[in-house]
Amino acid sequence: MTSSRVTPLKPAAADPAGEATVNAGATNGRPVLQVEGVNKIYANGTVALKGADLTVRQGEFVSLLGPSGCGKSTLLRIMAGLGDVTSGTIKFWEQDYGVVGDKGRKLAFVFQNATLMPWARVRKNVRLPLDLEHQSGPETEQKIDQALAMVGLSGFDNSFPRELSGGMQMRASIARAMVTEPNLLLMDEPFGALDALTRAHLQDSLMEIHAQLGTTVIMITHDVDEAVLLSDRIVMMTNGPAATIGEILDVKLPRPRNRLALAEDADFIHYRQQVLEFLYDKQKNPQIEKKPTDPARKLQEVACKPASSQDDAAGDTGKAATGSNKTRAA
Ligand SMILES: Nc1ncnc2c1ncn2[C@@H]1O[C@H](COP(=O)(O)OP(=O)(O)OP(=O)(O)O)[C@@H](O)[C@H]1O
Ligand SMILES: [Mg+2]
Repeated sequence: MTSSRVTPLKPAAADPAGEATVNAGATNGRPVLQVEGVNKIYANGTVALKGADLTVRQGEFVSLLGPSGCGKSTLLRIMAGLGDVTSGTIKFWEQDYGVVGDKGRKLAFVFQNATLMPWARVRKNVRLPLDLEHQSGPETEQKIDQALAMVGLSGFDNSFPRELSGGMQMRASIARAMVTEPNLLLMDEPFGALDALTRAHLQDSLMEIHAQLGTTVIMITHDVDEAVLLSDRIVMMTNGPAATIGEILDVKLPRPRNRLALAEDADFIHYRQQVLEFLYDKQKNPQIEKKPTDPARKLQEVACKPASSQDDAAGDTGKAATGSNKTRAA
């Protein structure tokens, strides 16, 4: 949908100079989400996460990368309240979920598969979260129109999911997430099942949505180029079991970003190299010495709190999550 225009659900913060800028929210924004000392042990004894700490700021685009099975989905689901922590805390706007509640947290989740209701037309699928909130009337219809326009699906209201391509189904899934005007959009490999061209178009759409609405996004991906292209920060997780946040790479490429121009950009290539080095070098041999780097480009080390010994016990599973509760699943 390269030709489609993104229609904002609410006015976007204007860039007064209209020039390319680095996303300031990534460093100065208010914390939307804080993961503090999170440990996760599944009931079967698998230690999925150990001492994960991460702060995500308003308006940031953060990618989560790491080896398969390291705990990315576990962490994202905990952030969404779809899974409990064994110990540790998840905070929204620097407060517990119990204080901010669903209205304060306001998040939406996009899965790898579009997960549309096959028996319902596109419009009904997109309106689902609003139906669940018992919203109706002209304003609701307008929100649905805008969400569909935003992902380039205007005119497909009456189609059934089976009548859409895989990429269009994923667009409908993103529209369903965005119709709630979330503060926080969580995506678990949303483009993983798509071909390269469709994926590229959806990445462009997501960049436009992010630029116009300023939505905070946390996205899991295995695609290094995708992570560098889209992100303000790339959070790289260590090998599991007992995975944690390994390194965080600040991607200071100015926005808006153009994939073709960036393909030969020295900074883009440098960032890409840093991620590949982490994934295929340091994670293959975690003891590897880190090479000194230019301080301006130095990877940020994340202080990972050591988990207390009691958290290693399988018997500690199932403690209630601070952030747990129902989530708007998109
Ligand atoms: N419900 C569960 N019960 C027990 N163990 C689980 C459960 N879900 C995940 N795990 C385990 O937790 C670890 C992390 O799994 P997770 O799905 O979070 O990894 P991931 O990084 O998302 O992997 P991938 O990149 O392949 O999607 C794995 O060892 C997995 O086997
Ligand atoms: Mg996963």
